Amino acid sequence: MKIIEIKNINKYFGNNSNKIHILKDINISIEKGDFVAIVGQSGSGKSTLMNIIGCLDTPTSGFYKINGIEVGKMNKDEQAELRCKTFGFIFQRYNLLSMLTAKENVALPASYFGIASKARTERAKTLLNNLNLDGKLENLPSELSGGQQQRVSIARALMNGGEIILADEPTGALDSKSGEMVMKIIKDLHAKGHTIIIVTHDKTIAAQASRIIEIKDGVAISDTRNNDKIYGNLDQIPPAQKSKFSQLKYQLSESFRMSVQAIIAHKMRSLLTMLGIIIGITSVVTIVAVGNGYKEKMMGMLSSFGANTVTIIPGSGFGDKNASKIKTLKASDAKTLGELKYVDSVSPNIDAWRILVYKSTSLTARLEGVSAEFLSVNNKKLESGRKFTAVEVENAAPVAIINQYTKKELFGTSVNPLGENLIFGKQPLKVIGVIAEEDGFGPPDTSLNIYVPYTTAMYKILGKQEISTITIRIKDGVNSHLAENNLVRVLTSLHEKKDFFTVNSNSVRKAVSSVADIMTLLVSTVAFIALIVGGIGVMNIMLVSITERTKEIGIRMAIGAKQKDILQQFLIESILICLLGGFIGVSLSVLMSLGLNSIMQGFRMVISVNSVIIALLFSSTIGIIFGYVPAKKAANLNPIDALARD
Ligand SMILES: Nc1ncnc2c1ncn2[C@@H]1O[C@H](COP(=O)(O)OP(=O)(O)OP(=O)(O)O)[C@@H](O)[C@H]1O
Ligand SMILES: [Mg+2]
Repeated sequence: MKIIEIKNINKYFGNNSNKIHILKDINISIEKGDFVAIVGQSGSGKSTLMNIIGCLDTPTSGFYKINGIEVGKMNKDEQAELRCKTFGFIFQRYNLLSMLTAKENVALPASYFGIASKARTERAKTLLNNLNLDGKLENLPSELSGGQQQRVSIARALMNGGEIILADEPTGALDSKSGEMVMKIIKDLHAKGHTIIIVTHDKTIAAQASRIIEIKDGVAISDTRNNDKIYGNLDQIPPAQKSKFSQLKYQLSESFRMSVQAIIAHKMRSLLTMLGIIIGITSVVTIVAVGNGYKEKMMGMLSSFGANTVTIIPGSGFGDKNASKIKTLKASDAKTLGELKYVDSVSPNIDAWRILVYKSTSLTARLEGVSAEFLSVNNKKLESGRKFTAVEVENAAPVAIINQYTKKELFGTSVNPLGENLIFGKQPLKVIGVIAEEDGFGPPDTSLNIYVPYTTAMYKILGKQEISTITIRIKDGVNSHLAENNLVRVLTSLHEKKDFFTVNSNSVRKAVSSVADIMTLLVSTVAFIALIVGGIGVMNIMLVSITERTKEIGIRMAIGAKQKDILQQFLIESILICLLGGFIGVSLSVLMSLGLNSIMQGFRMVISVNSVIIALLFSSTIGIIFGYVPAKKAANLNPIDALARD
């Protein structure tokens, strides 16, 4: 039976003016189990013919069949499958992958065949043992002699069965003793049923074949038969029977393993590739953490001002010149608003600046007239004493609550202020309570503030009938905006016109957090650009790496890698590099925030899980986007061009 049939094959190299005719109308048929030597002078076209037979190269014209199937009609994947399952290549210069051990090199073709890792390793060991390499399983090619490397490459050719062994000058780089050993192995393979095609210019080697074809200037000039030794019953290794899913799983895990190997083999370059991503991710995560910290701090400050409050102020807005003429805001308004069901507490406010006298000390202080509920409205607590009673508010009682700073300035640490008498303006006041120090952020309060019932302020100190503002605390869980609108409606109908405006503490809160958001957005944009630049860096280095590893790609293709295997491998490699860069970036920002948080006071960076997840997703996306072009370029390489590269 004919295993190879070649009809009228022609091969030209170059184009137009410098086109050269290398193979001229070659017609050869080779029997299954034969041992053919192709001889001829250097440059006669032997290797070119061999590469066409092995589907590494394509003829310019003509047809050929392998195992009865027309190769010209196969697509690239089918040709790759043929290289993988039918051919076993033995090259003059061995073509082992330098970063893989002998065992891994031998096992590699089977991973493109879809055979499980354990079965692969077992078979690789057996093949190497059979070629007397049992002690060299874990050695890298650079640690082996030429003869040993060639035996490893023979074992690799046999890994997937190697029904047709194509050997291009297999002894060309070896000393005579190693050459003889290799020839003996090849003859043994022939005897076992492998079809052997060997290219050589050595007459004594050619003489060991069953048939000798001589090529001269691209023409087959003679075809002689030495003997009739045609075997042919080759023990086939059982084909891998696997579901599509498990095959995909094997391929993916193989690509993953190979990518990890490649990254480890080129540590420095991988690190440099990652640098852009590391910088980008570190800056994004850190900046978002700073933004979060800032927001948290602002929120803390705001919450120390009080819960959600709405303040009602006469006039059309801040800076209204006519505001002082509006005298419609009354204490009764505060009472009415205080009865609404979404209002927690309410306090009218009216303030005055006068000289405050205690014994021999006199200072300018601010007095604020408030309701009994003002502590709750303003989120303040008493350190000592009591709040105003309803009766005291009703009767404009001369009682006062003072803040910490006033206590310190007037009484120092030795005197208990409770029960002491002060004079504000001309009004005597008895101290009944002291407000506790606030535990919020920001500088401590350094204003002299005293609080009295608003009635006391209105009637006894200022002689006014109206109040300045009303502060309303909204119940927790109530929609602040709706509550504010409702307050405005109620008060407008009381006044019969809208002669006031409102300030909602929630909108201040929103404004602060939107400032933080804008800051985060701004700097994230810069960091995003850094990431894109990093991604382009990854693409550059991947492109360089592919140029550098063209030979490796060629070898992988020669032993059966399909385009998608190569694409997958380089894509996974770039994703891994970016993801690893992302991890390093995230870790750096975590370290940085831990460090900064431990030395900085009053501010802490807050790294959110979301930003970490987004950073990692983003870096793998960069890996895919910027890895695709180089990976596709690698996958589209022509096997023989890639293999010819040094
Ligand atoms: N990619 C290519 N582009 C242009 N010319 C090429 C290419 N590959 C081979 N050739 C030419 O084709 C001719 C045959 O080359 P080939 O490698 O087949 O020779 P060979 O018979 O194997 O020689 P040797 O015994 O030295 O290995 C040579 O003249 C070579 O210069
Ligand atoms: Mg050659």
